[in-house]
Amino acid sequence: MIVQPKIRGFICTTAHPVGCAAHVQQQIDFIKKHPHFTGCKNVLVIGASTGYGLASRIAAAFGAGAKTIGVSFEKPAADKRTASAGWYNTAAFEKAAHAAKLYAKSINGDAFSDEIKKQTIKLIKKDWPEGVDLIIYSLASPRRQDPRNGVVYNSSLKPIGKPYTNKTVDVMNGAVTNITIEPANDEDIANTVKVMGGDDWAMWIDALADAGVLAPNIKTVSYSYIGPELTYPVYTNGTIGKAKEHLEVTAKGLTVKLKPLNGKAFVSVNKGVVTQASAAIPVVPLYMSLLFKVMKEKKLHEGCIEQAWRLFHDYLCTTNPKELDNAGRIRLDDLEMRDDVQTEISQRWNDVDSANLMDISDLQGYRDEFYHLFGFGFPHVDYDADVNVDVKIPSIEE
Ligand SMILES: NC(=O)c1ccc[n+]([C@@H]2O[C@H](COP(=O)([O-])OP(=O)(O)OC[C@H]3O[C@@H](n4cnc5c(N)ncnc54)[C@H](O)[C@@H]3O)[C@@H](O)[C@H]2O)c1
Repeated sequence: MIVQPKIRGFICTTAHPVGCAAHVQQQIDFIKKHPHFTGCKNVLVIGASTGYGLASRIAAAFGAGAKTIGVSFEKPAADKRTASAGWYNTAAFEKAAHAAKLYAKSINGDAFSDEIKKQTIKLIKKDWPEGVDLIIYSLASPRRQDPRNGVVYNSSLKPIGKPYTNKTVDVMNGAVTNITIEPANDEDIANTVKVMGGDDWAMWIDALADAGVLAPNIKTVSYSYIGPELTYPVYTNGTIGKAKEHLEVTAKGLTVKLKPLNGKAFVSVNKGVVTQASAAIPVVPLYMSLLFKVMKEKKLHEGCIEQAWRLFHDYLCTTNPKELDNAGRIRLDDLEMRDDVQTEISQRWNDVDSANLMDISDLQGYRDEFYHLFGFGFPHVDYDADVNVDVKIPSIEE
């Protein structure tokens, strides 16, 4: 099949297997070129197929030689449809890991369900008698079915208390307009916390602990975002911010629970990057286009893999970890939040419009990274060539 990008709103409904493999390889190459680290051996990544979870899996495997189990929810190819990008990424990751003689197995299914937790525990018991020593929880989902009562909760990205109006960009045509987002009601808030808060993270840790598969000194990390004041109403002070607050409370509870194993749960506040999850948030892509321009000018630009390398090198796999912030969180957003970076962005934010967008922001860079998520825009990939879209994930085919 000849595979070209098909954009619908803020997602691309096609993915290119060779391009996705190139994207994964680029991240592997980055980790191989940077100083390696030791200290994690058996790593479970929940949400391992794209974005921060994939980068974390790559960092653990190729930076520490860790064995990895990745859980994600992706679609294989069917009829005339390509597989999802995360499917191709997982296939490419496993192939590269196996070629490097690294253990890598993947589980595809709904991580919120009891069934997938059981399947994961069974695999850990079979293959890792010494247990798991690091769990990365990197799910981003618009909905969750709670296995305890079967109720499906939908998350929303809304302000709380009053409507929020600000600039936003149509990433594909570059039109800058104002958008007004109506405030959430109490149900929206509660549902978003159900989906993106710490409830499922805690259920995973409980299930793994009850099954006795957590190794001594177990660490678990979940990801959060804070960002600048201009996006506070739709992020930090909005419905998703409430979910992230819940994540922080959950981390404290998990740390208490993991005490007998000398374990610890962390929230890592990461930088804003282009992923399928962040592309869906209004206002944020315009902010990120300005952020990329300013950070590139200052030679500070980072994507998921740079952030994942810092997480492992500076915090998780070192005997001398960097300090946590006052709230006990890992801060990988330090460069994004630097005063000089944020001052420059707020000036440009006031000025930005459809006419000057391509000059004062890096919308083109944002677009390029968006296409890369789906395996498009890599110069050495021939997008006119016929390609086999029915790619297998080796461990799932076993
Ligand atoms: N993108 C950003 O700018 C940014 C910044 C800071 C923190 N974060 C946080 O990082 C985390 C990961 O986000 P991302 O941006 O990398 O998202 P992403 O969309 O790239 O990745 C989401 C992952 O979750 C998996 N997933 C979704 N629903 C699932 C389900 N039901 N069962 C199993 N797997 C499922 C997907 O398969 C994928 O592997 C989130 O907590 C997000 O809030 C993101």
